[in-house]
Amino acid sequence: MLLLAIESSCDETAAAVVQDGRSVLSSIISSQIDIHARFGGVVPELASRSHLEQISPVIEQALREAGCSMQDLQGIVCTAGPGLIGALLVGVSTAKALAYARNLPLAGVHHIEGHILSILLERQVDFPYLALAVSGGHTHLFRVEGIGSYQLIGRTVDDAAGEAFDKVAKIMGLPYPGGPQVDRLAQTPGQSPIRFPRPMLKQDNFNFSFSGIKTAVMQEVQKHPAPLPQETVVDISRAFQEAVVDVLTQKAFRAAQAQNLNRIVVAGGVACNSGLRNRFEQLASKNGCEVFFPSVALCADNAAMLAVAGDYYLGRGLSSPLELNARSSWPLDEVCSPLGVH
Ligand code: KG4
Ligand code: ZN
Repeated sequence: MLLLAIESSCDETAAAVVQDGRSVLSSIISSQIDIHARFGGVVPELASRSHLEQISPVIEQALREAGCSMQDLQGIVCTAGPGLIGALLVGVSTAKALAYARNLPLAGVHHIEGHILSILLERQVDFPYLALAVSGGHTHLFRVEGIGSYQLIGRTVDDAAGEAFDKVAKIMGLPYPGGPQVDRLAQTPGQSPIRFPRPMLKQDNFNFSFSGIKTAVMQEVQKHPAPLPQETVVDISRAFQEAVVDVLTQKAFRAAQAQNLNRIVVAGGVACNSGLRNRFEQLASKNGCEVFFPSVALCADNAAMLAVAGDYYLGRGLSSPLELNARSSWPLDEVCSPLGVH
């Protein structure tokens, strides 16, 4: 099927045209970073307004780059949740309007379902696999049995990994979004004299906690007079990234072992992190696992990733009703019959 996918759950307005849930003909992403940067984080009302302005030109560009028109499409896919409600509503309403106007089937997909299947746009990965979803809102481990079949293995009990990166960056006075900034500084050659705790690492479960590391960073920052010396910013970035990477990799490999899985897929914005990518790569063969990372463009928010599940559901005659509503919160392990079709 030739599908148009639309993503608007947070601060990226994105549209993509994807053939058969695998072949990306176009993927347009309009970022709102410039709008939110001066506020140090996403301002929901500004996000909704910007989505409204951007959504039509982004869709038009996606169709143009794919060399097709609305008449060629066979279905519409959108992120139905979770995310900022006002932002989601722009994508969902647009998708519903297009589906209604063109009499096309509609699939409202879970944002994290999009992330954990995004690898399939680039690589053939056999099911089952362990998925580590690490983004601004999620740090979750799922056993992925197939498309639409996800079992929650572990999750953060407080902050998401990306949220922790962003908060730590903010504490150090780095611009939003902080994850890429901390990553860049953490790559400075040398060793950090600081060591932050590895919360919950010793516990016999697959949950995560990142708010403790964030507090430890705050205490470290308070030891220094403002403004924080650049050398300290680098040391904290290195030590923080090291702690987060340690926890994420160790827990993921342990979960894979406990689940008898030898394939791990890492996805979501934090999967762009250089330290995380390197460490997983280094430890993969030692742990008897193959580790898969989508390319950086597919780790960050995009619309193409939604088409994998969208194509699968629509291809089986499963579609969302036009009453589809956006959901700001939506647990993924609830998705055994997604799309709001129960
Ligand atoms: O998946 P995503 O684009 O949006 C959500 O669904 O949340 O993830 C965004 C998150 C932000 O917290 C951002 O700081 C983080 O991913 N991020 C990174 C890196 N690139 C983006 N965190 C650490 N290192 C990076 N290189
Ligand atoms: Zn995301």
